[in-house]
Amino acid sequence: MAELHLGQVLEYRGDALVEGPEAVTHRRHGALLVEGGKIAAIGEADDLRADHPQARVTDHGAHLLSPGFVDAHVHYPQTAIIASWGKRLIDWLNHYTFPEEISFADPAHATEIANLYLDLALENGSTTMCSYCTIHPGSVDAFFTAAQARGMRAAAGKTCMDRNAPDGLRDTPQSAYDNSKALLERWHGEDRLSYVITPRFSPTSSADQLAALGALWAEHPDCLMQTHLSEQVDEIAWVKELYPNARDYLDTYETYGLLGENALYGHAIHLEPREADRIKETGAALIHCPTSNTFIGSGLFDWPKRLAEGQRIGLATDTGGGSSFSMLRTMAAAYEIGQLTHKPLHPAQLWWLATQGSAQAMGMGDKIGALAPGMEADFIAVDLASTHAIAQRAARAEDIWEAIFPTIMMGDDRAIAGVWTLGEKRR
Ligand code: GUN
Ligand code: ZN
Repeated sequence: MAELHLGQVLEYRGDALVEGPEAVTHRRHGALLVEGGKIAAIGEADDLRADHPQARVTDHGAHLLSPGFVDAHVHYPQTAIIASWGKRLIDWLNHYTFPEEISFADPAHATEIANLYLDLALENGSTTMCSYCTIHPGSVDAFFTAAQARGMRAAAGKTCMDRNAPDGLRDTPQSAYDNSKALLERWHGEDRLSYVITPRFSPTSSADQLAALGALWAEHPDCLMQTHLSEQVDEIAWVKELYPNARDYLDTYETYGLLGENALYGHAIHLEPREADRIKETGAALIHCPTSNTFIGSGLFDWPKRLAEGQRIGLATDTGGGSSFSMLRTMAAAYEIGQLTHKPLHPAQLWWLATQGSAQAMGMGDKIGALAPGMEADFIAVDLASTHAIAQRAARAEDIWEAIFPTIMMGDDRAIAGVWTLGEKRR
């Protein structure tokens, strides 16, 4: 039966990162018609009620109906080590991350954390994410099984590492290829799941391993490929030592077939001009992880340059290098980094990045990340007055963006009043 959800709605008419609020239509008394797991119509509440008198109506009052958030870079295995103190990237990996990832050899642990992570993600309004798993194939099975049970569109891959990682956390070029391929064949395209070819980053992959994964991607070019790029200055210097013949960090991927339109590069803070040019030329996406970039002390994403270049950009928590599960908190951090780089992002740009921007970066912009007829019905109801502090500020708002911005800056899971995937209520 058709369901009609009434509330405030935002409709994207263009690329709001480029065009700003002009690209978004707001309806104070709007409605979404959901049928068969998809959005059948969007419009004024009165019009849709008149046109669909049989539909079951849910009135969300002044809550904002939004696409579910799309988190374009997370490490679900790092759920339990989020907010670990005092280390920068390489030490943080060795001290906190790798010991935790070793325990994913146990499928029961992987299943427990996958379910915990996805519950936290949904509580925070994220209905889709692109996750790293661990080197263990079972960690991928656990994640996809848990996402499938929640009706989620989700992307993930086995993290491949064959050097500079501890015992119990290394594969080989051949096993990385074979296991990734088997997982891809098992999961890619099953229900709403997508397999992502996932070399962790150049320091933990030999040239042979990068080449093996480049070959796998050439055989399955419709798959996404995710990795890390130019996150921290020390890391970049290390990549230069490990790959002395590479022109720059990106070249370590480019040389082995790991650059292309379906590539997602996490962080991409300290890019050389050549790297930025090649990324723009190929149409690969940069994934901005602002809470992580400040938490691990990596640096400031160069908003003015990246926007001027017209790069494809997604937004992500990078849980657990990132210090939050919330895309609201992540938008706030992106805003603050924009301020520090003299490019304050408009709330319309931030909201778009957290929904359609990330969806487009993942090649899913025609399915999720916007409320429009034919899109999959993954949406959230956002309470724009979820705390006393937010409510008192929002009460003074003179337009929708001023009403939304306090929730961006101060909101958390309390702002997420409801979550639906494929039209079914999940929280
Ligand atoms: N670079 C390589 N691995 C990681 C990781 O797990 N987190 C972050 N933030 N950066 C990385
Ligand atoms: Zn990461």
